[in-house]
Amino acid sequence: MQVAVFDDVTEMGAVGARRIASLFTRRPRSVLGLATGSSPLPLYDAIVSEYQAGKVSFAQAQAFCLDEYVGLPADHPEGYLNFIRRVFTDRVDFAADAVHAPAGTSSNPIAAAAEYDAQIHAAGGVDLQVLGIGSDGHIGFNEPGGSLRSRTHWGHLTLQTRKDNARFFGGDVSSVPESCLTQGLGTIMDARELLMVVNGENKAEAVAQMVEGPVSAHWPATVIQAHENAVILLDEAAASKLKLRDFYQESWETFLQYQWSHGE
Ligand code: GLP
Repeated sequence: MQVAVFDDVTEMGAVGARRIASLFTRRPRSVLGLATGSSPLPLYDAIVSEYQAGKVSFAQAQAFCLDEYVGLPADHPEGYLNFIRRVFTDRVDFAADAVHAPAGTSSNPIAAAAEYDAQIHAAGGVDLQVLGIGSDGHIGFNEPGGSLRSRTHWGHLTLQTRKDNARFFGGDVSSVPESCLTQGLGTIMDARELLMVVNGENKAEAVAQMVEGPVSAHWPATVIQAHENAVILLDEAAASKLKLRDFYQESWETFLQYQWSHGE
């Protein structure tokens, strides 16, 4: 795991965007995994800038969202497929049918979950997965207590997550769906590369647990410690509870110089 800390989220987004642009320039048919939430927005804005500057194209790419609410109407603006189209994929040149999310409107969410894993597999797997993290340590919508090896599944949301996400629903917790379809932790861990972006003090405890805590289903993001190619981009507030922050920063400089700069 590589951890980097930034003074501002614009710079953080730009660094992540350059990595994604580099991948899709080398291998235009790659598969991008997408996270919703507010944390990746500076990253998506920065990728749109790279696209507008002619530095990257997604015309041959495919994208898979991490998760989707169950129970929202298909045209609800906060449905994750609609959200990701609005904030990112419709602003670049993804083909409309190349952007996927679990079928949260399905009458059979269990079958829909299995179909989603099969779709990802058929596309060749996710090459680079963008991640955020919830204040309770969830990634995707994998809440505390789930299997560290789970596949895409139908899950229940914690009250904390529903409170956190109420801001997207006019502040009304009762309007936030209680369940979701989410890629499992096992599905996420199959991605060849993980790129997490996190900002804000309300994430500091979850970040400290993820990077320095024991691997535990209680903090689902800790599973990332076992991934061979995971990069975590943080702002100062999100990094504020890390004990080895200075070491990570030194290590990051070496990583940039010897790995990312060689396109690997
Ligand atoms: C949401 C999403 C996650 C996201 C997380 C953090 O509920 N399901 O994929 O990473 O919670 O969201 P935010 O970045 O808005 O804090």
